[in-house]
Amino acid sequence: MTSPKHQIDLEELASLAKRRGFVFQSSEIYGGLASTWDYGPLGIELKRKLKELWWDNFVIKQENVFGLDSSIIMHPKVWDASGHTSNFSDPLVECKQCNHRYRSDQIESSECTNCGRELSEPRLFNLMFKTFLGPVEDNSNSTYLRPETAQGIFVNFLNVKNTINKNPPFGIAQIGKSFRNEITTGNFIFRTREFEMMEMEFFVPPEDDDQWHDYWINNSFEWYLNLGLSEKRLRIRKHEPEELAHYSKGTSDIEYLFPWGWGEIAGIANRTNYDLTAHSKESGKELSYFDETTKKHVIPYVVEPSFGLDRAVMALLIEGYTHETLVGAKGKEETRISLRLNPSVAPVQVAILPLSKKEILSELAREIYKNIKSSSLVKPLIYYDETQSIGRRYRRQDEIGTPLCVTVDFESLEDNAVTIRQRDSMDQKRVLINKLEDEIVSLLSNKVHG
Ligand code: GAP
Repeated sequence: MTSPKHQIDLEELASLAKRRGFVFQSSEIYGGLASTWDYGPLGIELKRKLKELWWDNFVIKQENVFGLDSSIIMHPKVWDASGHTSNFSDPLVECKQCNHRYRSDQIESSECTNCGRELSEPRLFNLMFKTFLGPVEDNSNSTYLRPETAQGIFVNFLNVKNTINKNPPFGIAQIGKSFRNEITTGNFIFRTREFEMMEMEFFVPPEDDDQWHDYWINNSFEWYLNLGLSEKRLRIRKHEPEELAHYSKGTSDIEYLFPWGWGEIAGIANRTNYDLTAHSKESGKELSYFDETTKKHVIPYVVEPSFGLDRAVMALLIEGYTHETLVGAKGKEETRISLRLNPSVAPVQVAILPLSKKEILSELAREIYKNIKSSSLVKPLIYYDETQSIGRRYRRQDEIGTPLCVTVDFESLEDNAVTIRQRDSMDQKRVLINKLEDEIVSLLSNKVHG
């Protein structure tokens, strides 16, 4: 029996993520640091694949989107101009007794849930992390860690426009870390103070903004479906006017149905010409393009698909996490946990498992491992594992989401064939070693959800 997804226990998921090397608590040997996480060997593979797939869709496949890697620390005037210094804040309330802090827009009661005492009046708390440039901790040297990657793109608008020698429509994309001093964090890697964003600013002629906004909303939704998130747990939600960020004319979020309810995984905003106009005023530089038909300088509008990488990881872990009760040969029930990730995002795609450690088998298994690893047809990450019983090794591969296990047994020495076991169906198939590569390519092209 497969467990319904809404019953997933986040602690169970975090425990698997730790046990198998996806996500560790940060600074764990010192007792950990609240809501900060480190990605282990498999977690970084999953993130790397997501970044590649995002870049592939938003840059490589597009005719007119270009990449950028701007710095995390920028001139403090950037944040004055963008409105973050004055507007990027959440309403903070504090318990008068135990000093517990809450976001007033996220709580219903005026009493502290920790000790039951009265809460203070809300005050606005700026979410940017302040830091100092150089050795003197003085306000004249202060700046912020970026709370979004977008501003690095806006301040490079002219640089990129001049190098590509194009007028809008064109986009600039970048992937990188952002920092927000969130009042409340939690739900594992869902809301943290340091996280990775994948953002694209698509500059368009002002009159075409709505059309491009719709285009990128649909394109972004498709991207999540292609990752293997199921349609019934994904939705597009349009912001109410009172929810809109200070720069936005309209925003639609893509939300995923997490165990605690719907949560934002990406936002696609129409930022109008807000940012370029503001930077133009603050810097005194003309951030526009020359429209050949109207013979006028125009500040383009911007449509921004903005994705949280850690939230995509979280959604995939939840989507894939599957708990089954199997009945063994002797009628004994056992639990099988598997991570049903699409092969395109699975950290390890093939595991080569010799049935026994005997040299005669490992020699053949290692040869197969090397051949597949150096193959030009497939580029999977492959594991070689000869420790423990084959049952335990299958379980380990199921838990990390490896779609295919290739078992080399004593018969392989006679029939030049191996067994391929598929993670989800557990079907096993005998395949000739000289046909193995083609079979792997074909099986890895299958999707599990979507
Ligand atoms: N440049 C637009 C922007 O920053 P946002 O809705 O504030 O928009 C975009 O953030 C995405 O970044 C969100 O959809 C979410 O996936 C991710 N994100 C935002 N805050 C986060 C946090 N504290 N922890 C993890 N991811 C976060």
